Amino acid sequence: MKPIRVLDTTLRDGEQAPGCTMNLKEKLKIAQILEHMRVDIIEAGFPVASPGDFEAVETIARSVKDCTVAALARAREKDIDTAWEAVKNAADPRIHLFLATSPLHMQYKLHMSEDDVVRVTADMVKRAKSYVDNVEFSCEDATRSDVDFLCRVVRTAIKSGATVINLPDTVGYSTPDEMRSLLSQVIARVEGSDKVEFSVHCHNDLGMAVANTLAGVLGGARQVECTINGLGERAGNASLEEVVMAMRTRPDIYGPDAVRLDTTQIARASRTVYAIIGQLPPLNKPIVGRNAFLHESGIHQHGVMANKQTYEILTPEAVGINQKPLVLGKHSGRHAFENRLEEMGYNLSGEELERCFEEFKDLCDKKKVVTDLDLEALIAHSSVYEEEEDGYRLDWYAVHNTNFTTATATVCLKYKDEKFEAVSLGDGPIDAAFSAVDQIMKPVDHTFELYRINGVSPGMDTLGEAHVRLQAGSHSFSGRGLSTDIIEGSILAYISAVNHLKAFTRRQNMQADS
Ligand code: KIV
Ligand code: ZN
Repeated sequence: MKPIRVLDTTLRDGEQAPGCTMNLKEKLKIAQILEHMRVDIIEAGFPVASPGDFEAVETIARSVKDCTVAALARAREKDIDTAWEAVKNAADPRIHLFLATSPLHMQYKLHMSEDDVVRVTADMVKRAKSYVDNVEFSCEDATRSDVDFLCRVVRTAIKSGATVINLPDTVGYSTPDEMRSLLSQVIARVEGSDKVEFSVHCHNDLGMAVANTLAGVLGGARQVECTINGLGERAGNASLEEVVMAMRTRPDIYGPDAVRLDTTQIARASRTVYAIIGQLPPLNKPIVGRNAFLHESGIHQHGVMANKQTYEILTPEAVGINQKPLVLGKHSGRHAFENRLEEMGYNLSGEELERCFEEFKDLCDKKKVVTDLDLEALIAHSSVYEEEEDGYRLDWYAVHNTNFTTATATVCLKYKDEKFEAVSLGDGPIDAAFSAVDQIMKPVDHTFELYRINGVSPGMDTLGEAHVRLQAGSHSFSGRGLSTDIIEGSILAYISAVNHLKAFTRRQNMQADS
């Protein structure tokens, strides 16, 4: 039996979730990790949605070599044409089009009759097929559709050339029994089912996305659609790490080689995605939460010491979590640093390694011991965020703040060889410092999409990871700052985001002038 194919839609459905928008560089980084992890299909985005989405899909399509790259389209000519334009340079391109089949969606959203839906399905699948052989067709809201009608649409899509048929639980309404039965019914009733691959795409509104996805597999699906960390519309999609590890851990149910994915890349993928969206996993998140492999109670610890399998059904190493408790410090040399990174699954070289080592040394001056969590934060920071070369840098800052006076901040920034100082009042030290930065850098109007600080590791001297995301027009600009001082971290994050915003504005102005 061929492995179940894993379609990752972090960059499309995941990115649609509020607070999860990503810029081009972030998307490309995630695509590279997904490729390295050997997912089968990367759904890179919805190209017709905006020029930014188009550019991201096009860039990913050109860069990814070892996975299929899919672009999403509604069942409309312009969407399909645009999806093809964006994805056509991929090594293995796919167009994924969708049309709703439930009475509710047809009546209130599409204003289409059943016959209309069947006709449009035929026409649009044929249009996609005229561009590329690999065409996925999704019956949106399949789990609330009439099964007879669903079979009619699926039959039409297959006859028109679809190679993958997806039955999504768009609103997370289904139960595992229903999902399994839906898949097996449609597969049994539609002639030509054996010529295509069936797929499931489950949302998590009732917390059943993973269970429904796995049930779909038992019903005959050969493709699962999921996202890293379960990101996605509303309560999210089925989480890739949970679906994949369930199949790996239970070969007795899903078969010995159910997935071809390299599971040791899961922790890294999860951390990178959380770092990009400025969040941390819930402590008890299966597979990637900080408590996922910790045994607190005495009875459990005793059992695990006698034999790990008493309470551990999968190992942290299998998902790329190396639990060797090693700490590095001021006196650790480059060799120890590189070794540790390798053990943690990072293969950095050249400039990236150099930059991380410098940052590590700086950190050792501020923090007695540097743990794996600190290293991960440093790496996530320097691998995703590149500073603008032609940007402002923080020279120094001073804030004065009490709980009975207005905060004041003085900030000194360097730009090339010049220094600029500004003083500002504010509603607290961060507001004051950001206003002082604004006085110097004078960015165009923007709003704050996100400002968040996470403590990276336990302890009072923890590294604070500040994340700022600004919105100007339809574009987002991220900046991150890492420091044991959260005010400094926040200022660094803000300067970095404004540098990105200013570089973008400059590029746009240059294009307008030429
Ligand atoms: O949830 C859904 O139905 C979707 C489709 C576009 C596949 O995301
Ligand atoms: Zn979805």
